[in-house]
Amino acid sequence: MLNKERKKGKKSNGMFPAKISKTAQQSIPYKRIYDDHNTNGGIIEVKDGVFSKSYYISDASFSDIGEVEQDRILTSFEKTLKTFDTDISYQITINARNIDKEKYNKMILLEYKDDEDEYNKLRSEHNQILLDKMKEGKNNIKLEKYLTINVESKNIEEALVKFENIENDLHIKFKRINTEGLKPLSIAERLEILHDIYNLGKEDNFDINYDPVEIRKNGLTSKDVIGPTFLDFSDRKKSQIGDNYVQVLFLRKIPSSIAGDLMNHLSSIPGNMLLSVHYDAQAQEKAVSFASNQVTAIGGEVVKQQRKLTHSGAMPDLISPKLATERQDAEDMLDGLQNQDKRLFKVTLVAAIFAPTEKKLNELVAQIQSKAKERIMALEVLTGMQEPGLVAALPLGLNPIPIYQVMTSDVASAIQPFSTIEVKSKNGFYYGQNAISKNLIIYNRSEELNQNGFILGSPGSGKSFIAKEEMYQVFLKMDNAQIFVLDPEQEYTILAKELNGQVFSIEPGGENYINPLDLDITKDKDGDPVAQKIDYIISLIERMLGGRSELSGYAKSAIDRALTDLYQPYIADLNKRGITIDRAICPTLKDLYNVLNARKEAEARNLAANIRIYCTGTLNLFAHHTNINIDKKMIVYDTSHILASNLQELGMQICLNDIWTRMVANRKREVRTWFYVDEAHLFLKMPSSAAYLSMVWKRARKWWGTPTFITQNVGDLLRSAEGNDILSTSDFAIMLNQAPLNKAALSEMFKISEDQQDYFSNVGSGEGLLFLQKSILPFFNHFPENTKLYKILSTKPKDAELIEKPSEMEDE
Ligand SMILES: Nc1ncnc2c1ncn2[C@@H]1O[C@H](COP(=O)(O)OP(=O)(O)O)[C@@H](O)[C@H]1O
Ligand SMILES: [Mg+2]
Repeated sequence: MLNKERKKGKKSNGMFPAKISKTAQQSIPYKRIYDDHNTNGGIIEVKDGVFSKSYYISDASFSDIGEVEQDRILTSFEKTLKTFDTDISYQITINARNIDKEKYNKMILLEYKDDEDEYNKLRSEHNQILLDKMKEGKNNIKLEKYLTINVESKNIEEALVKFENIENDLHIKFKRINTEGLKPLSIAERLEILHDIYNLGKEDNFDINYDPVEIRKNGLTSKDVIGPTFLDFSDRKKSQIGDNYVQVLFLRKIPSSIAGDLMNHLSSIPGNMLLSVHYDAQAQEKAVSFASNQVTAIGGEVVKQQRKLTHSGAMPDLISPKLATERQDAEDMLDGLQNQDKRLFKVTLVAAIFAPTEKKLNELVAQIQSKAKERIMALEVLTGMQEPGLVAALPLGLNPIPIYQVMTSDVASAIQPFSTIEVKSKNGFYYGQNAISKNLIIYNRSEELNQNGFILGSPGSGKSFIAKEEMYQVFLKMDNAQIFVLDPEQEYTILAKELNGQVFSIEPGGENYINPLDLDITKDKDGDPVAQKIDYIISLIERMLGGRSELSGYAKSAIDRALTDLYQPYIADLNKRGITIDRAICPTLKDLYNVLNARKEAEARNLAANIRIYCTGTLNLFAHHTNINIDKKMIVYDTSHILASNLQELGMQICLNDIWTRMVANRKREVRTWFYVDEAHLFLKMPSSAAYLSMVWKRARKWWGTPTFITQNVGDLLRSAEGNDILSTSDFAIMLNQAPLNKAALSEMFKISEDQQDYFSNVGSGEGLLFLQKSILPFFNHFPENTKLYKILSTKPKDAELIEKPSEMEDE
């Protein structure tokens, strides 16, 4: 993901690289490249008739889940390995890269705005918090993981057919582990990876808009574009590539069982490296005969030793422990192949370490070697084979070194690439830290296809707090955005005031009016806006009547007729003026009441009488033309004053409808609408208002809306069909501390493993699980209390008091 982001910034500078030397050309191990075929990935012909394709493997949780889940992943990976063909090469590569600190900071920190903006102090405080948190993780290392497959074919067409057959199956197999499966790399992406390996420290020179035709016209080849300026393989133990030293190591010794995080463990050194594993699947008959030869050979050795022992008068059972283990291993292998459906692999693991100085190189090599030792393994320098070693490390599927370990599929499955999900998207917001790696979680919901989200947690778990964290980042970062909050508990007023926003208090006898009949006639494929409005008003009236039962068919049609009549002249007027809404002249509830009351039929007059209090009586706060003028970036509807009877639900619904109307208008001026419904269970009490909320959730995306549903009442949510709809149509969720019952219910619904459940029960404020695009990530968000931002975000009364005295704050 990061790779893609980084490239976007690169612009063509119209310059072409110089031709690289013939020797450097020859050291780049491929013949020719093919442009992306139907955009389904780039193919490189690495040798005549050998075609190579690479896939990006997105990560999955491994280190942060318990043994049961880890076993599941290893079993899935073993199943994947078992589908590997004997005449195809498979390679998995971890590409670990140091990220330039400045660039990284630029990606995650808030950018300062010019002097007119009075918020730079807040930005600076936010940035400092992030810089402090960064010290706890390894944020300056970026890991990318690839699968590379090589097939032999007569020509590219035949190769493409082969790839198609293999990749569908593999995609499904990987999807079971990482939910995203495999993503083919384009030819430009593959060339960029190679370029960045050969030109460490000069990554910016690669032009992603690279056009092979243009390059050829200039008498150059792709190798001129990606190659290093200088290559030297004369030293038997290390090489020089451009400005860097490189040393390639191989795995020589391996114990009979391996912990499942080997690749992750080895790649965690703080430097640039390529860690590549080649899995060479062996045909079953060959494997069995290999294993039985092994058993026979060791058997011979055992007999020899036994003879010696008998000669010296010792017991023949006392063969050396080493030989006994070897015999056991060989017998197990044979048994596994013959009776347990295991497969045999020749596995080659190489690590190429890159560093700008020899001293640094030696340090890094010592570090990775000691990492291997911790796991009773040996990583050794490939003396005299540095050049083929580097070829084996590059993500080109080639393995020219004749060194391998023989292992069965169950053991080989431990050499798998998954570790933990790291989330970093450009233009992202900070949500906290990965609970395992402590790396920052930087994510941008609004760039995903589905932006719906929810926040669940017991009272005090930090729901409103983390929602406010997101809001202030939207505010400080995004230019074309507007933030709306439905706030039944007065928790957002401090933030809104601080951000120069508007707070509208909705109360009887108050000054702020919202007219629920406001109608924007912008057409929408999903239905006629007038019909939708009428449905909505009917549900509102049901709510006014107590919501115990649906309105009769007669009452519904009476309302329908009345509203149709009322809207007719309004719409005609709008059409004449070429606009889609005019709040000043839109009909109101009072007009509706008057029309119903003027009808001859007793039933219509009866209905009018029943809703009179909301239209002309004391609760008529929703029966006026809208008078609130919304021009600020953050808007809070404070409904805390209408707790009485069913007014609060009614008020929340009317405010949400107002947000909807404003979102439609925002979309037209290309402004994204972020809106938050706190204490959202208030919507789930009645089927009609729940249905309204779920409609809003389903359709917000179309109007560039990013909605967030916040509640502590998980039980209500799970019991309601609409609640379930909302949960299942959201791709973003924050689950903070949960009560035991809710923990069980949510775990079942979201398939949260037992080990992951520990991260969202009995935890502190701001700790829990993050759901991003269906992957689950344990996280924590510990906001430092000695900051101004904390005081703005916190709802604890004592924190709020502090903020009333700005002079005190300045002195801190
Ligand atoms: N991420 C956090 N870091 C530090 N303190 C927090 C965090 N989240 C919550 N708190 C503290 O807990 C209090 C309650 O949080 P709040 O968001 O109001 O809970 P909820 O909305 O879930 O009931 C906050 O006022 C704040 O003092
Ligand atoms: Mg709250």
